[in-house]
Amino acid sequence: MCGIVGYVGDKQALPVVIEGLKKLEYRGYDSSGVALVQNGKIGVTKEVGKIVRLQKKLQGQNNSSGLGIGHTRWATHGEPTVENAHPHCSMDGKICLVHNGIVENYKFLRTELQEKGYLFNSQTDTEVLVNLISYFKSKENDTKKAIQLALKKVEGTYGIAVIDEDEPDRFYAARCGSPLIIGVGGNENYVASDASAIMIHTSNVIYLDDFQMACVTKDDFEITTLDDEPIEKKIDKVDWDISAITKNGYEHFMLKEICEQAETVQNAYRGRVSKANCSVRLGGFNFSARDVRNLENVQFVACGTSWHAAQVGKYLLEKIARIPVSVEYASEYRYRNPIIPQNTIVVAISQSGATADTLAAMREAKNRGAMVYGITNVVGSEIARESDGGTYLHAGPEIGVASTKAFTSQVTALALLAYHFGQVRGSVDNQQVLEFIEELEALPAKIDQVLEYKQQLKEVANLIKDSKNALFLGRDINFPSALEGALKLKEISYIHAEGYPAAEMKHGPIALIDENMPIVSIAPYDAIYNKIISNLEEVKSRKGKIYAVASQKDENLEAICQKVFYVPQTLWALMPILVSIPLQLLAYYVAYEKGLNIDQPRNLAKSVTVE
Ligand code: M6R
Repeated sequence: MCGIVGYVGDKQALPVVIEGLKKLEYRGYDSSGVALVQNGKIGVTKEVGKIVRLQKKLQGQNNSSGLGIGHTRWATHGEPTVENAHPHCSMDGKICLVHNGIVENYKFLRTELQEKGYLFNSQTDTEVLVNLISYFKSKENDTKKAIQLALKKVEGTYGIAVIDEDEPDRFYAARCGSPLIIGVGGNENYVASDASAIMIHTSNVIYLDDFQMACVTKDDFEITTLDDEPIEKKIDKVDWDISAITKNGYEHFMLKEICEQAETVQNAYRGRVSKANCSVRLGGFNFSARDVRNLENVQFVACGTSWHAAQVGKYLLEKIARIPVSVEYASEYRYRNPIIPQNTIVVAISQSGATADTLAAMREAKNRGAMVYGITNVVGSEIARESDGGTYLHAGPEIGVASTKAFTSQVTALALLAYHFGQVRGSVDNQQVLEFIEELEALPAKIDQVLEYKQQLKEVANLIKDSKNALFLGRDINFPSALEGALKLKEISYIHAEGYPAAEMKHGPIALIDENMPIVSIAPYDAIYNKIISNLEEVKSRKGKIYAVASQKDENLEAICQKVFYVPQTLWALMPILVSIPLQLLAYYVAYEKGLNIDQPRNLAKSVTVE
């Protein structure tokens, strides 16, 4: 949420910062700004809206500088206005900072500063922080010390980059709860909230941990605690392929990411299954066979799409490994004094590995002594680093705000987990494991087949794009896919949509159905197929317009539906992957036909790193 980029070095800082901000725009795009140090003075330019607008504003200015910081904002305190945009300067204009996170005690701190004569131009917590630093600087005459003293007074979260006119050769960075990395180059160094912002310049990064700060010049960096104790940090390598963060010819990241799924699903299982040994294992799942055999409960904590993947995980683990599972909204779990019985593993699922609620829920579980396992996509993310064992999805960067490929990779990883548990606990036999591996290996080709439906889904999108509401129906393991289909439509097309277990219709939602209500039904050919057909008959008799995703040709189904999309048959455990793809495409084309901003839908951000 929000993005930070900073640069110090021999190059011009502005293009580096602007390009970096564009890479981070998916994290927040209400407003943006940059601060450059020129001839010992800080100059700030800010604008509301997208970064192209900021670029326009910068045109014609003298922007020459080797030190700069920038920010793209997702508003928390104060509306998206120029005043509230970052960077924020101290009252005397000498110190300037960009900030991700929330200073929770900012009102109290602001009152204290006002009493000392400080005036504020914005409604933000960030302006309070920069003035707090300025206040301590006036007392200590030492910028680093001033930052340390100010941060010690902060309650809440921060990832900050700070520049000071008095020290025009460096920036400072510090973090607590909001990710921040230092990029290490030759004769130049960087700071960013996300590696994708600086990947084209360097793959050498240092992950700052909570309560650590960095003082960075073009040829050196020093990491310390807030008590100024030096810390030795290792330089990590980020090995993402740069083409993965470009659109590669697609009109939108979302479409590109949908179309990558044959490959990303394969990446999620590659090297983790062996037909020869008849085995399924997950790299990073470093709990012993004894731990797995003794398991009595699994608790999933996640948000949004990852929560839907966790719901699929519940069906998988309960049926295949015979372990009771609960699926928790991370935001609720963290505050409700959760009960974690003995022999429970808490599994945090998160594409970004940085979602504040999921991270907090995971920490809560850890503090209570639970084994904590993380399933994440972003390498080196907080959740990955803090869990006792962790598995990466290897889906590559997901830039579109609407999560697509991460979902199918999460489901793939959860299916692997279920079969691994099942094998260790003896609830599945070798024949079943072999069948699973064979179906898994056949899946990428089947995904490519489903992607062939693009044009037909676009036509359906045209039919439903003016609807005010939509219902998504599914049952059993495909019910969470209905929830996910509804979320996709809501978040990028702004059509109100709900996911329901098909049989729940008659307990209320059926009252909503009329000829204006599109119903998207997931009806693969499985043990409860006939039940779903009966549920759809009920919809049909209320004049609902049904669009179905099915897996076996059926004239009865075609008779009650406006259109049926057939996905290839696959194993029960893997069907949520295949049926989700037409729903992703449908949401994409509805938003496309409505001319909406698909990759950056309103009010949303890719990683929700604030509460
Ligand atoms: O990075 P995470 O998987 O932890 O993110 C969780 C949700 O914020 C995320 O899935 C969100 O719901 C997406 N916009 C859904 O498309």
